[in-house]
Amino acid sequence: MKATATYLKVSGDQIRRFQRCVLTFYKQHGRMLPWRSTMDSYKILVSEVMLQQTQVSRVIPYYIRWVETWPTVQALARASRPEVLRAWLGLGYNSRAVRLQQASRVITHDFGGDVLAAMQDYQKVPGVGRYTAQAVLIFATNADLVTVDTNIRRILLASFGLPASTADRDLWDLALRCLPKGRSREWHNALMDYGALQVTARRTNIPPKTRQSKFEGSSRQLRAQVLRVLLDAPRTTQTLQQMLCCDEEALSEVLLRMCQEGILTCDGARFVVASD
Ligand code: ADE
Repeated sequence: MKATATYLKVSGDQIRRFQRCVLTFYKQHGRMLPWRSTMDSYKILVSEVMLQQTQVSRVIPYYIRWVETWPTVQALARASRPEVLRAWLGLGYNSRAVRLQQASRVITHDFGGDVLAAMQDYQKVPGVGRYTAQAVLIFATNADLVTVDTNIRRILLASFGLPASTADRDLWDLALRCLPKGRSREWHNALMDYGALQVTARRTNIPPKTRQSKFEGSSRQLRAQVLRVLLDAPRTTQTLQQMLCCDEEALSEVLLRMCQEGILTCDGARFVVASD
């Protein structure tokens, strides 16, 4: 019932006006970003994983260094976990680095290195959800597909005056109606820029479905500090606590979590960055 109600509220005229508005904005203000000059699906996957929850300006230098260090999915599959975590230091949410490397191994070994085939079967690929899989297919092949992330969701809600409670299914249906066929790559690049520069979260006041927690004093900050220290040398809980001057309980929780995620292991007394 709800799906058809939302669908009917947006006319073909409104959609054409919206397309013109977004594409005109892109012609005038489109950004040159390093992952936009490649059609290499592995490099596009790297950029999309880095861009999850992280701003474009922070991602750029990490992306450039990463694809220089590991230019192919096979090269990343061969890298060691500490190397990969070291290259990710400062980008945040370090479990993304572990998952990206696990993804590279699944793609190399189970999909013969074919990133696009893996994206079509994304449930088998660690750290890759529907949004990321579709984004890689769109940017690498220009296929007539759509994807809806936080920014595109906000653009659709704001541009068509829809409530924040609009169901995901309805938004994906609407996104497909808005897609100018044959121009999916350009259209999604345009949407990314329109969302980042024009229809911003601040201007629209539309709440995201999930909010990022504050970094300062958070367990994310403690995780980053723990990783930085342990990439230098293995340490006991006591030494870590002295070095980081942190709460004992918070530290134990973070260590346990990082062990569960395969980032750390414990040799009985000391914690160390997992080698694989
Ligand atoms: N956010 C997620 N994917 C993006 C992309 N390809 N370009 C800019 N911002 C993005």
